[in-house]
Amino acid sequence: MQNRNENIFLVSIFLLFCEINYCCADRAATWDACGCSWHDWKSWSSCTATCGGGKQERIRWVRFNDKPGCNGFEDCATNDSGWDNRICNANCENGGTIKTYGSTSAYCRCKTGTKGKCCEQIVTCGSPSTISHGTYTGTSFSYNRKITYHCNSDYNMTNPWRAVRTCSQWGYWTGSLPTCEYAVSCNSNPCKNGGICTNMLGTYRCSCSKGWTGRNCETDIQPPIYDHCPTNKAILVTTMTTNQTWTEPVFTDPHGFGIEISKNYQNSSFEFPWGKFAIQYIATKPSNGMTKECTFWITVTPHQCKPLQAPKHGAIACNGWKEQYARVCKFYCYSGYDLPPGFKPDTVINCGATGKWMPSNPFSECILMNLLPSARDVVTPKFNNCLAEKTSIAETYIRDLKRSQFNALCVDNLDFCNDRNVSITCTKAPVE
Ligand SMILES: *[C@@H]1O[C@H](CO)[C@@H](O)[C@H](O)[C@H]1NC(C)=O
Ligand SMILES: *[C@@H]1O[C@H](CO)[C@@H](O)[C@H](O)[C@H]1NC(C)=O
Ligand SMILES: *[C@@H]1O[C@H](CO)[C@@H](O)[C@H](O)[C@H]1NC(C)=O
Ligand SMILES: *[C@@H]1O[C@H](CO)[C@@H](O)[C@H](O)[C@H]1NC(C)=O
Ligand SMILES: *[C@@H]1O[C@H](CO)[C@@H](O)[C@H](O)[C@H]1NC(C)=O
Repeated sequence: MQNRNENIFLVSIFLLFCEINYCCADRAATWDACGCSWHDWKSWSSCTATCGGGKQERIRWVRFNDKPGCNGFEDCATNDSGWDNRICNANCENGGTIKTYGSTSAYCRCKTGTKGKCCEQIVTCGSPSTISHGTYTGTSFSYNRKITYHCNSDYNMTNPWRAVRTCSQWGYWTGSLPTCEYAVSCNSNPCKNGGICTNMLGTYRCSCSKGWTGRNCETDIQPPIYDHCPTNKAILVTTMTTNQTWTEPVFTDPHGFGIEISKNYQNSSFEFPWGKFAIQYIATKPSNGMTKECTFWITVTPHQCKPLQAPKHGAIACNGWKEQYARVCKFYCYSGYDLPPGFKPDTVINCGATGKWMPSNPFSECILMNLLPSARDVVTPKFNNCLAEKTSIAETYIRDLKRSQFNALCVDNLDFCNDRNVSITCTKAPVE
């Protein structure tokens, strides 16, 4: 096609040239000798196209004398001068403009949105795709027309910027398809136990009330609660025991589930001896296994006695453990000294609950043996050097304690009752 157009173009230039030098160009050298003359042009052939630029031709014949050497067309004229052609039906539709190549070829340049040889076709994008849970408005699908997508009620568009699409000059819809998602998931009340529901596109979110968690607030994370937990109590007593009463904590579950309570004191009062006691309540919620604990302490201590002084020329040994609850002491004398007359050698002195030593009148001085009546039996072990003989004093003390009426202090505390845990105070060694 291209080649042919070029040939036609060259031919046209040649014809133009011939007209300028028309004297000879279309005539053979024998034109005059053969007595040539042109017939009229025949009529134009029908146009090869009805629009967009077709082509038509016409021809003409020559007349010549019937002389020798004058045999036909070529003796009068060049072949080219016997025919002619031109562009026809050079019209375009829809505002298209005709473009010509020389005098024999033409085509339509179409306006945007039209196409075809004569721009007779309007560009169209065809029916737009449909979307789930939505529709579009717009009934014309040709060039530059717009359609707008909408979601059905209860659905929202996840990408609203895609809602409008335009038919492009290339015959396809611009942009891409929008999508519609369910926007009222909360309508089915998915959040349990007072959770607040927020609609999300295609889903929902629960914000749970206190003590609940999980996607739908279905998980109970509420432990039991109590109304109060008694505070710790420290009691100084003058008796061996004390009856203490307290108000038990009341456990409940804000969610109304059952609660089991375990406690280490069955009643809310108890006759406590001296010591430190933990009172414990543990509430368990079997439905979720969560617990709440209330623990408080009751410390019962006897009144404390003033420190005992070691006697002159002697020593005092006391328990070095549990001193808060019991003080049991014994006196010892240096060699050559002895307990005063009337003071029984196996006497132990203890601090009573009232804060007074018993017996209340322990002696204050070991007596030089020379001054004692010879009849007295000496039973306390004697020592010469307090520091060096501490272990033997302590061993004696432990042995004496175990034999005394206060042996419970040792028996109940076997881990502590030993000669390394005796507190011993000596007075200065007597000078000879
Ligand atoms: C003259 O030209 C026409 C058209 O190109 C062609 O069909 C014909 O054969 C030619 N005649 C001669 C004698 O060259
Ligand atoms: C859905 O669209 C409506 C109206 O624009 C809006 O009020 C609502 O919040 C949207 N819902 C979601 C889940 O985005
Ligand atoms: C302790 O006191 C409470 C209240 O005063 C009383 O009910 C309880 O019986 C007493 N317990 C003992 C062991 O004395
Ligand atoms: C609790 O108190 C009741 C009556 O007051 C008594 O019978 C019971 O022995 C007490 N239980 C304990 C463990 O102290
Ligand atoms: C002495 O008694 C205390 C308790 O009062 C104890 O902690 C300590 O371990 C005891 N020491 C020895 C050596 O047993």
